[in-house]
Amino acid sequence: MNRRDFVKTSGLAIAATAVGGPALAYAGGSDRIKVGLIGCGGRGTGAASQALQADPGIVLWSMGDIFAERIESSHKYLADQMAELDDEGGAGTKWRNKLQVADDRRFVGFDAYQHVIDSGVDAVILTTFPHFRPAQIKAAVAAGKHIFAEKPVAVDGPGIRSVLESSAEAQRKNLALQVGFCWRYHAAMRAGLGKVLDGSIGDVTTVQTTYHTGTLQKHPRQPSWSDMEFEMRNWWHFTWLSGDHIVEQAIHSIDRMAWALGDMLPARVNCLGGRAARSGPEHGDVFDHFAAVYEYDDGRRAFHTCRQIDGCPSDNSDYVYGTKGAAYINGWTPNRIATRDLSGKELWHFEGEVKDMYQQEHDELWASIRAGKPNNDCVRGARSNLMAIMARMAAYTGQTITWDQALNSQEHLGPTEYSWSSLPAPTVAIPGQTKFS
Ligand SMILES: NC(=O)c1ccc[n+]([C@@H]2O[C@H](COP(=O)([O-])OP(=O)(O)OC[C@H]3O[C@@H](n4cnc5c(N)ncnc54)[C@H](O)[C@@H]3O)[C@@H](O)[C@H]2O)c1
Repeated sequence: MNRRDFVKTSGLAIAATAVGGPALAYAGGSDRIKVGLIGCGGRGTGAASQALQADPGIVLWSMGDIFAERIESSHKYLADQMAELDDEGGAGTKWRNKLQVADDRRFVGFDAYQHVIDSGVDAVILTTFPHFRPAQIKAAVAAGKHIFAEKPVAVDGPGIRSVLESSAEAQRKNLALQVGFCWRYHAAMRAGLGKVLDGSIGDVTTVQTTYHTGTLQKHPRQPSWSDMEFEMRNWWHFTWLSGDHIVEQAIHSIDRMAWALGDMLPARVNCLGGRAARSGPEHGDVFDHFAAVYEYDDGRRAFHTCRQIDGCPSDNSDYVYGTKGAAYINGWTPNRIATRDLSGKELWHFEGEVKDMYQQEHDELWASIRAGKPNNDCVRGARSNLMAIMARMAAYTGQTITWDQALNSQEHLGPTEYSWSSLPAPTVAIPGQTKFS
C-alpha cells in the first residue's frame, strides 16, 4: 500500500458517507439502540454518558473491561448521573431507565470485548488502550455493529492497515466507524480552521503545533501484580499499549496540523526525541519529548513538538501561517481562536456558543446512524494516526521515515496473546541504534 492508495481510499470514504443507505431497524422494530461499552475507564464512561444524552432511544446494554472494578465504578458514575438528570428534569425514571446493564451482561477479561459484541447490541463504544483497538474494531465490524472508536485507532503499521481494511468493510456494510478526534467537532475550532481553509490567511505556508504538559499518573508495582497487570495499570508509559505520548496524547495537535493543511499526506518526517526526566520501571519505555519536522511533496514543512515533563511550562498552541496572515489556535482556550494579517492586526476572532465537543461528536454520530448515513471518518483518523506513528518511528530510530515505510512497517508492538503473566522487560529506544522494521 502506498500514499496514492491511501488518497484513493480517502476519496471512497467521503463518497460512501455522502451516499449512505437505508436507516437501520432496531431491536423488535422499536427505536431502541442498544450500546455496549468496551473499556470502562475515564473516556469510556464519558463517551457512554454522551451517547445516552445524544438520543432518547439509546440504552446502555452491556459493559466490558479487563478489570471488574472499572465496570462497577463506571456503572455507578453513570447511575448517579442519570439519577441527577431525572431529579433535575422531574422526568420520573426516564434517564435511569437508560441503564439496562444486567449482571450477566458485565464481562471481565481479555475476551470481554467479544462478549459485549455478542450480547445483542447494535453499537459499541471502544475506549480501551489503543493497542487493542484494531482487533476490537475488526471484531465489531465483522459482527455488523456501529462503532465509536476513541483515538488512537492503532499504535503500529500493522494496526493501521488492519483498521483501514475494517473501515472499508464498515462502508460496505453501511456501519458507522467514527473516531474520537473530538476537536473536529468543536464549534470554535471548526470556525477557525474553516477560516484557514477558505483562504482568509492566503495559502498556508507552514504550521507549528505544540502539546507540552507534565508527566502522567504512575502506579507503583504491587507484590501481587504480574508484569502484565503492572503494565496495564501504567499503560501510558508503555509504547506497545499507548503508542507513546506523541501517538496517545499529542495526536490531537498532529490531527489539527493535518486539518490546517487540508489533510494532505506528508512525504516523510524527521523527529528528535528522548527521555530527559523519565526513569524507573513505572515509566516503561516511552520518551518524554519529541520534535518532528514533516515534509510535503510541494516543499512545505510543518513542525510539531510535544513534551511530558514536570516543572516546565505547559502549552497546547497551533500557529498556522499563510501568505496573507496567520491563525492562532489554543487547544486549552479554543474560544480565543483568531486570525491576523501580516502586520499582526486582528482580522477575525471566534464569537459564539460552544457546545461540549464530546457531546457534539456523539450528537452527530447517533443522528447519522438514525438517518441511515452512518459517519465513517476512519480513513482520515488513520491518516493523522499514522502521522504520529511515523514521527515516533523516526525519533526511536534516528532515521528519516517516509509515509510508505511507516504504512508498510512490519513492526507489531506487544504480545499477540494476552494473559496475566510475565512480559519481556521493555527496552528504551536509542536513536541511531534502534532499527526500523
Ligand atoms: N478524545 C479525547 O479527548 C480523549 C481523552 C481521554 C482519553 N482518550 C482515549 O481514550 C482511550 C481510553 O483512555 P482513558 O483515559 O479512558 O483510559 P482509562 O485507563 O481510564 O480507561 C481505559 C479502560 O479500558 C480498559 N481496558 C484496557 N484494555 C482492555 C481490553 N483489552 N479489554 C477490555 N478493557 C480494556 C482498562 O481496564 C480501563 O478501564 C485511550 O485511547 C485514550 O487515548 C481520548
